[in-house]
Amino acid sequence: MERLDPEMKTLSITPLPEFVNTNALDDFRQHIRSLKVLMSRYRSAMMEVETKFKVLNEEFSLANDRNHIESIKVRLKSMDSILEKLHRRGLPMTVESVEQNLTDVAGVRVICPFVDDIYVLVDCLLRQTDVELLQVKDYIKHPKENGYRSLHLIITVPIFLREETCRMKVEVQLRTIAMDFWASLEHQLRYKKDIPQAISEKLSADLKECADISAMLDQRMQDIKDRIE
Ligand code: GTP
Ligand code: MG
Repeated sequence: MERLDPEMKTLSITPLPEFVNTNALDDFRQHIRSLKVLMSRYRSAMMEVETKFKVLNEEFSLANDRNHIESIKVRLKSMDSILEKLHRRGLPMTVESVEQNLTDVAGVRVICPFVDDIYVLVDCLLRQTDVELLQVKDYIKHPKENGYRSLHLIITVPIFLREETCRMKVEVQLRTIAMDFWASLEHQLRYKKDIPQAISEKLSADLKECADISAMLDQRMQDIKDRIE
């Protein structure tokens, strides 16, 4: 362990306690190594999916003279969040357990201008022969009670490594700009603590109303686009 010596103002290394036996240390190193390999594979899968969307957008923008994708965000779940989720669900804290039980370690969020763009993109993605669909949650057709809207997919894609090919799970969230605007603000507000129950209920109702207004805005923008086209 590293620590700063207050007198010397230099870094010193605290020797490991003697009770840490070499086998346990080797096991620990092996676990860390496996975890790094797994995370690197998730990162690769995330890049694959991001590229698939970029390629589709490239073709659409040439054909239709406009982008079907406003922006793409990718994120790898932090180790803290992974451990917290396994713990919360009472699952084993092992590398195998992460792979078997978690579907959102690799996340790709695609923000589209119009609602129709989402369904067109999903259709194109799922027709690709190397993409396997595991789950769809359509919170656009069936919004959550709080007003949250987005289309969620869990897919697997192959990643081609030096000596093997393996399939990795990726969570894809597709939203319009309006849906993303609402979800980002709602997410920020949700983490504000100490809000009394009575006020919290009113805030939830207000947020739900904002979600409805943003859905209406999406609908009107879609109508205008359809009329122009
Ligand atoms: P998690 O355990 O949070 O991953 O949720 P889940 O397994 O029930 O999956 P679901 O598809 O419902 O949600 C996955 C992700 O969608 C979340 O991690 C958020 O990024 C997003 N999400 C879902 N519901 C909401 C919501 O009410 N508000 C916001 N801002 N985001 C949401
Ligand atoms: Mg999640």
